[in-house]
Amino acid sequence: MCGIVGYVGNETGAKDIILGGLKSLEYRGYDSAGIALICKGKIEVRKKVGEISNLEKIVGDPSFDSNIGIGHTRWATHGVPSDINAHPHCNSDETLSIVHNGIIENYMEIKEQLVREHDITFKSDTDSEVIAHLLGVYFDECGDLQDAVARATKRIRGTYTIVAMSSREPDKIIGVRKDTPLVAGLGKGCNFLASDIPAFLKYSGQVYFIENGELVVVTKDDIRIFDTERNEIHRDVFHVTWDVDAAEKGGYEHFMLKEIHEQPAGIEETLTRRLDDDGLVNLDGINMTKEDISKFNKIYIVACGTAYHAGLVGKYAIEKMAKITVEVDVASEFRYRDPLVDEKTLFIAISQSGETQDTLQALRLARSKGARVLSVVNVIGSSVARESDDVFYTWAGPEIAVASTKAYTTQLVCMYLIALYMAKAKGTIEDAYYRMIINELKGIPEKLNMVFSQEKEIEKIAEQFHRQNEMFFIGRGVDSAVSLEGSLKLKEISYINSFAIAAGELKHGTIALVENGTVFFALATQDGLAEKMGSNIEEIKARGAYVIAVAKEGSRLIADLADNCIFIPKCADEVTPLLTVVPLQMFAYYVAKFRGCNIDKPKNLAKSVTVE
Ligand code: M6R
Repeated sequence: MCGIVGYVGNETGAKDIILGGLKSLEYRGYDSAGIALICKGKIEVRKKVGEISNLEKIVGDPSFDSNIGIGHTRWATHGVPSDINAHPHCNSDETLSIVHNGIIENYMEIKEQLVREHDITFKSDTDSEVIAHLLGVYFDECGDLQDAVARATKRIRGTYTIVAMSSREPDKIIGVRKDTPLVAGLGKGCNFLASDIPAFLKYSGQVYFIENGELVVVTKDDIRIFDTERNEIHRDVFHVTWDVDAAEKGGYEHFMLKEIHEQPAGIEETLTRRLDDDGLVNLDGINMTKEDISKFNKIYIVACGTAYHAGLVGKYAIEKMAKITVEVDVASEFRYRDPLVDEKTLFIAISQSGETQDTLQALRLARSKGARVLSVVNVIGSSVARESDDVFYTWAGPEIAVASTKAYTTQLVCMYLIALYMAKAKGTIEDAYYRMIINELKGIPEKLNMVFSQEKEIEKIAEQFHRQNEMFFIGRGVDSAVSLEGSLKLKEISYINSFAIAAGELKHGTIALVENGTVFFALATQDGLAEKMGSNIEEIKARGAYVIAVAKEGSRLIADLADNCIFIPKCADEVTPLLTVVPLQMFAYYVAKFRGCNIDKPKNLAKSVTVE
């Protein structure tokens, strides 16, 4: 949500650098964009509702450029998407400008006070504008931007990343954060602040992660980080290992398609990092002993969206292999009930971005109750990673498309590895079975190529059904967990109303919706459940449904019953989700393409959901 870019350098050029940075953050989701520069000693703001291309149309004037500026892509929370509500916002005399990501919970009370005591007129409906005016008032009182920002953070409540600059101190930008991300980039003769690394990766791979409550002062020559008491903090530089290409499309039409095809590499990398030469799972860097593992009597896996769906597969794997009860919870629900968590609980948070507000808050709740927290995270140094006892990184590389694909499959790999490790530590797994699962996992990247070879057929099926208004996904066992992910993929990028349900539940209500032409995806990859799925397919076909099945190669029973059948290569039932999900991702992709949807940036969605 909301992307922030701040730049200070030696020479003019800030406009293009900031615009480029905002484009790299488009994946976060936004509905308006803006930029503020200090031009000839005065703050100049340009902002526009809609795509960044709309903003580009109004910033062409060459005199609108500078060596310092801030930019923003807004994802509306308070106030509709509009030119006025777009960021940056300024104080009354326009000597100060800010951009903000997050929500200021007490903005109303601050606004009323500013109007009452300082006669300030507000231009927008946003919560963020109060920050600009509050800073303006404090700056007038103390004459120092850093002090003003520090004071403002004591007055506001909520979640925020704020970057501010003032024409009265035109050599610096100042950032501060609470619960939403902020990183600083160390360039040559220039420095950066941003919501995420891709914003400045072209210029710098040297990064400082700014922690909650810290304030960072950035000039062209240095980056200085302070705690809330204004003590300077030493922070090690983090060197980014992935390059700009990894965050670009590399010849694919969309990031989503590129990321679908990157799954074999992501899976291989995630496995390689955790498998020893002798084929055993290593948890190097994770401080979990055999004793710790045998102490756990319950595991909570908590996450949102796609990551939650990965958790559901994790439950199957952990319960089957390590014989520990696993509860999988949606983070926004977990945090508002009274979950039974104590020192014997292992809490596993799954998050691609590591910044999802609900997951982060659930994690904090679990920690406060004594749970041990292990997180499965893709973004190194993100908030979830930093606040966990241990981190199991997915090595998917940067995922830019809003729809998660490679994050999901690498999260699944982590789930299997965690299950195997715990099972071995507890002695609940036979050696031969352990080895068999490891070998199956190792074989997945190769098998995915066979799934990719059916891409044309999947595209054809997508063309046939892209005008559908609704679709259903069914499955049994672990297939029912994957059906949820297939359905989410389809609805989020194609806007088709899709619904997933355990196949066995159909006749308890949903079958009432089946009529001539109703389209079903039937996932039938589980050997032991093939006949049961066959019966479900018969039941819906008898009522006129059209059935597209996903089954293992050679599964004649299912192929004969279904109208179309997409095959995955033979493999152990346990690991099928890693293969089954891929045709569903491709189907969603092509349906969305035939419908002319904005695939990488679906409407109303953000990549990183940093508000509740
Ligand atoms: O960054 P996270 O994994 O914590 O994000 C959680 C969900 O918002 C995310 O998985 C979302 O459902 C997917 N992007 C949808 O494809």
